[in-house]
Amino acid sequence: MLSWEELIIECSNCMKCELGKHRTNIVVGRGSRNAPLMLIGEGPGQQEDKQGLPFVGAAGKLLDLLLDAQEITEDKYYICNIVKCRPPNNRVPFDEEAFQCLPYLRNQVKLVKPRIIVCLGNTAMKYIIDKNEKITQIRGYWIERKGFWLMPTFHPAALLRDESKKALMWQDFKKVKQKLNEIY
Ligand code: URA
Repeated sequence: MLSWEELIIECSNCMKCELGKHRTNIVVGRGSRNAPLMLIGEGPGQQEDKQGLPFVGAAGKLLDLLLDAQEITEDKYYICNIVKCRPPNNRVPFDEEAFQCLPYLRNQVKLVKPRIIVCLGNTAMKYIIDKNEKITQIRGYWIERKGFWLMPTFHPAALLRDESKKALMWQDFKKVKQKLNEIY
């Protein structure tokens, strides 16, 4: 297992897949490095690539609102993505890109040691929970696995396209807050 410093250096030099050629900045994560809650998205967008931080664009603003509404403060969560470099035109990462990047994410999970992991959207659900599931079918239900509580929910960008998902995602975040209260 790499230390935080080693991990960041390794990610910064990573050229294991095509995405490395296009990045401005590597996007490793933000938030508390010993948070009880880890949120995992898909991959950096334009703003994230520019700033080197996850979820700082439009989807990130929505996510902040959801977290604020449940009074989940930044000391309680760490946020990151399946891939650490921006896919061109924000396309979904290819399997080979995700598989090259996943060991970095596993390393991050070992360092942060969260109890709860929220998978934001299909891509995170596919690589963390089950590649054959559909987010619309399993969102909102807890999955207990290897000592983690996994919660699949929508990606906040999906709310930008479809307002009707807002209430459902709100409920999912309420469950996350309840679980945090139960555990801590
Ligand atoms: N969407 C993601 O999945 N991750 C980000 O960091 C930003 C937008």
